[in-house]
Amino acid sequence: MHQDKVIYQIYPKSFKDTDGNGFGDLPGIISKLDYLKQLGIDIAWLSPIYPSPQYDNGYDVADYTAINPLFGTMEDFDTLVKEAKDRGIGIMLDMVLNHCSTEHEWFQKALAGDKYYQDFFYLRPAKDDGSLPTNWESKFGGPAWEPFGDADLYYLHLFDVHQADLNWHNPNVRRELFDVVRFWMDKGVQGFRLDVLNVIGKSEDFVDSTGGPSSSQEKGLYTDTPIVHEWIHELNKATFGDDPNLITVGEMSSTNVPNGIKYTNPDREELTMIFSFHHLKVDYENGEKWSNPEFDFLELKEILNEWQEGMSDGGGWNAVFYNNHDQPRANSRFGDVENFPYETATMLAQTIHFMRGTPYVYQGEEIGMTNPMFDDIEDYADIETTNNYAIMLENGKTHEEAMEIIKAKSRDNGRTPVQWSDEPQAGFTTGEPWLKVAENYPEINVEKELKDGKIFNYYRDLIQLRKDHPIVSQGSYHGFALDHPAIMAYSRHLDGQDLVVLAHYYPGEATIDIPEEFLGRNYQRLIGNGDCEELSNQVTLKDYETVAFLIEA
Ligand code: GLC
Repeated sequence: MHQDKVIYQIYPKSFKDTDGNGFGDLPGIISKLDYLKQLGIDIAWLSPIYPSPQYDNGYDVADYTAINPLFGTMEDFDTLVKEAKDRGIGIMLDMVLNHCSTEHEWFQKALAGDKYYQDFFYLRPAKDDGSLPTNWESKFGGPAWEPFGDADLYYLHLFDVHQADLNWHNPNVRRELFDVVRFWMDKGVQGFRLDVLNVIGKSEDFVDSTGGPSSSQEKGLYTDTPIVHEWIHELNKATFGDDPNLITVGEMSSTNVPNGIKYTNPDREELTMIFSFHHLKVDYENGEKWSNPEFDFLELKEILNEWQEGMSDGGGWNAVFYNNHDQPRANSRFGDVENFPYETATMLAQTIHFMRGTPYVYQGEEIGMTNPMFDDIEDYADIETTNNYAIMLENGKTHEEAMEIIKAKSRDNGRTPVQWSDEPQAGFTTGEPWLKVAENYPEINVEKELKDGKIFNYYRDLIQLRKDHPIVSQGSYHGFALDHPAIMAYSRHLDGQDLVVLAHYYPGEATIDIPEEFLGRNYQRLIGNGDCEELSNQVTLKDYETVAFLIEA
């Protein structure tokens, strides 16, 4: 049963280094399994650990069935699976099946002229007028086509130029990829996170977009196409579908609720759950990520509510989360980490952990790690960040303006090394870390948090409540007070019981009217981060306060 599980995401490169080379490694993960057990999580998802030139930190895979020496050996991996299992923790691997590294043998053979492997990729000639095969834009900026050697052809890359899209129309490609999944199943992994899976279904007759580069019209040409569902079903049948304990989560870019239901309704035999991202675009100006307006709280509520109710109604299942390796830290984004670090972190966590779906905790969030606020562009390694820095300058922004945006939006905000202690480099490495450690590590670190902090314990309590109360894992969802400008409010329902969850997203005080149906019944305060103890017709919450009440049938 996946509903009562909590998943913890590890970004191996930044988790814990044991050999002093500045990159986290598998022995580092093994050394922290007791810490994860203490937190109470069920599954640890590892971002890619395969051989890779690391242009996109391992999401450019050069060999799908080996371990990058940077992270350790296959023996280390086997030890990790076993040691985790001994602690009741399953390992979930990241499968990057939409594209592979241009250093992968398949691409290299294709480049060398091997026709069999050329058909593994989307290779197209220029248009008659000499322009690129289509006008599509890469998701990391710049055109989506790159010259393919000197063959007078271009290859498609929806992401970086070093990530060539794989031609799923070719049954040999699908067979190879399914073999990869089975290889890791045989190693005893308990789950798969499938990278950008809903863009595998490009139509073979590539046409120009008419809505402009990166428009939703353009994305519609290759996103959520009907054949994606067919191929995921095929993947399911050929691999994990047989194993009821195996958990899968598809990363779905720009998807919608009807497709989300299709991907995850068990009757369709596709995936266990999906990530969707619309709720993390509420601080984009006119849909543009590289901007920095205040977040739109009402929109945030509306989107979460739409996904919660929609997936609930259609028998689908959400992955619920605010943080991952592609996002700035949610507490820096939606709260006040200077004045209310505990309230902010726990309020955001509570919003997520009581929703209907499987909660994800991203490394460091359980101790309140924040955006690092690096001033210097040289301190950012992420390819999306550096590409867009150049694009912002080209479009007339000053260096300072661009840096303000990068400090808020760069993916590296979530990728700085985990702050384990107040030792040099936050105890992450004895060498030079591949990405700088955030300066606030003397105040925010695991050692200090376990000694006298309150955020970690709050996460632990939230995780335990999911195990103790079936309403948290199984209950249906209903949002209320959707137009309240400061408080997020929703309820869950199971067998006559109700769970009421309130979260105040701002400083100061805010009051909310509680619907009649929840009043005059026996209740208990399940958990909260402030003083509010009573459920009455009006509830007042202080700065970033959150509370949950369990009401008996
Ligand atoms: C996903 C990953 C991201 C990566 C991209 C391309 O969005 O989460 O880190 O850059 O896919 O593989």
